[in-house]
Amino acid sequence: MSSISTSFPTELIKKYGLAGPRYTSYPTALQFHEGFDEEAYRRHIQNSNDDLIPRPLSLYLHLPFCKELCYYCACNKKVTRDSQRAAVYLQHLEKEIDMQGKLFDRDRQVIQLHFGGGTPTYYDDLQHKSIIEQLSESFLLSRSDNREFSIEIDPRTVNEERIAYLADIGFNRVSMGVQDFDPAVQKAVNRIQDEDKSLKLVEAARQSGFNSVSIDLIYGLPLQTATSFERTVDSILSVRPDRLSVYNYAHLPHLFRAQRMIKSEEVPAPEVRLQILASTINKLVEAGYVYIGMDHFALPDDELTVAMKNGTLQRNFQGYSTCRETDLVGIGVSAIGKVGNSFVQNLKDIRDWQAAIDDKRLPVWRGLSLSSEDRLRRGVIAAIMCQGKVRFGEFERRFKIDFSEHFALELELLKPLQKDGLVEISKFGIDVTPTGLLLLRAIAMKFDEYLINDLQGKSYSKVI
Ligand SMILES: C[S@@+](CC[C@H](N)C(=O)[O-])C[C@H]1O[C@@H](n2cnc3c(N)ncnc32)[C@H](O)[C@@H]1O
Ligand code: SF4
Repeated sequence: MSSISTSFPTELIKKYGLAGPRYTSYPTALQFHEGFDEEAYRRHIQNSNDDLIPRPLSLYLHLPFCKELCYYCACNKKVTRDSQRAAVYLQHLEKEIDMQGKLFDRDRQVIQLHFGGGTPTYYDDLQHKSIIEQLSESFLLSRSDNREFSIEIDPRTVNEERIAYLADIGFNRVSMGVQDFDPAVQKAVNRIQDEDKSLKLVEAARQSGFNSVSIDLIYGLPLQTATSFERTVDSILSVRPDRLSVYNYAHLPHLFRAQRMIKSEEVPAPEVRLQILASTINKLVEAGYVYIGMDHFALPDDELTVAMKNGTLQRNFQGYSTCRETDLVGIGVSAIGKVGNSFVQNLKDIRDWQAAIDDKRLPVWRGLSLSSEDRLRRGVIAAIMCQGKVRFGEFERRFKIDFSEHFALELELLKPLQKDGLVEISKFGIDVTPTGLLLLRAIAMKFDEYLINDLQGKSYSKVI
């Protein structure tokens, strides 16, 4: 991938900063359907177990509880102080781990594990230990130093001892939610978080042996200005996290009730938002961070940067990851998995999900078996999002197509973007320009078969 443009293309961002999916999967979850049921999921697992070389596994566990509501939050979470409710959830989670573990061949090693939320650290140390024990009983957890076992931490819920404990039970990567250190912004979004404590926890994570620390920030929150956000970025840079996710606040109050608590007039205007983004990108690039794509930055020696440079970067439900050919097992309410050529999603209501487990049914809600056309387009979209280039020859060999013929309409749709300097198209392929890197999803959307005829009426967040 070429490096991101440092001269900021405000006009183009306004023009192409339209609504669009984030392509953490293709087809996106909008295409999942309930015709894909428990039986379909079992079939796909069986097929993938039958592969000659056992494919390793990634596990995603969804731990949805939070003690307080951040008004901006678009995550799939449940806010409650009722620890009994969370304990009942955990009993069911452990049963689901057991049920799913029985379906996968025992020689399939778990090389990636991710605890996401909500707030996984809502649970205490003993509860985390219990989950890890259940996981080790039901799956073969890798013991290699290369394994990637990560957890999302809300710094307000942990101290230095807890961080050390999480390292002790096997986690080696952590991402911490910071969002913004400005007291007025924190008040406006109902997330009061101590700056010094957050910074100290980054150091504590390093000392405890976590080999990758990532920080989440959000731009576009109420009352933010370019200057106020610069202060947050400077503060975070003082502890030099390995990775930074700088998310664009998606203000969709019709979809996320909590966002109705945010005063619309306090949300920065599009020009201010662009100023914040421009100054953040410049600051991070100046500080030596590499733009990975879609909100993500990493230090030059981080595995993500290395993967981006050698063309093995992948997109997954958590953003980007290094290329590891795994099947993804989603466990917990609303969790999404990817097994063989299928996506599967669990029931999204906690009561329904628990009832299925009580009935000894897999809590499958919906999913999708990918057609060969879906797989071809998934490859093209991944090449845009992860490598910033598409080589026609590669797809012609793999999918036995003539690229220019197969994608005649799509290449036509790309022409205005070519004219505006977002992509270069030759007879060998498509190259995203440094400016285009800021608008990856607008480019990828041109290959989304489901969107091509139907962009109107869908609720996506803005591209920038
Ligand atoms: C599950 S939370 C992280 C863990 C923990 N719950 C916390 O808040 O620290 C995942 C991340 O999603 C991001 N996020 C949540 N709602 C968002 C929104 N509406 N727009 C953009 N980013 C959002 C935040 O950066 C947040 O840290
Ligand atoms: S941002 Fe994190 S802590 Fe806040 S409500 Fe969302 S998931 Fe919970």
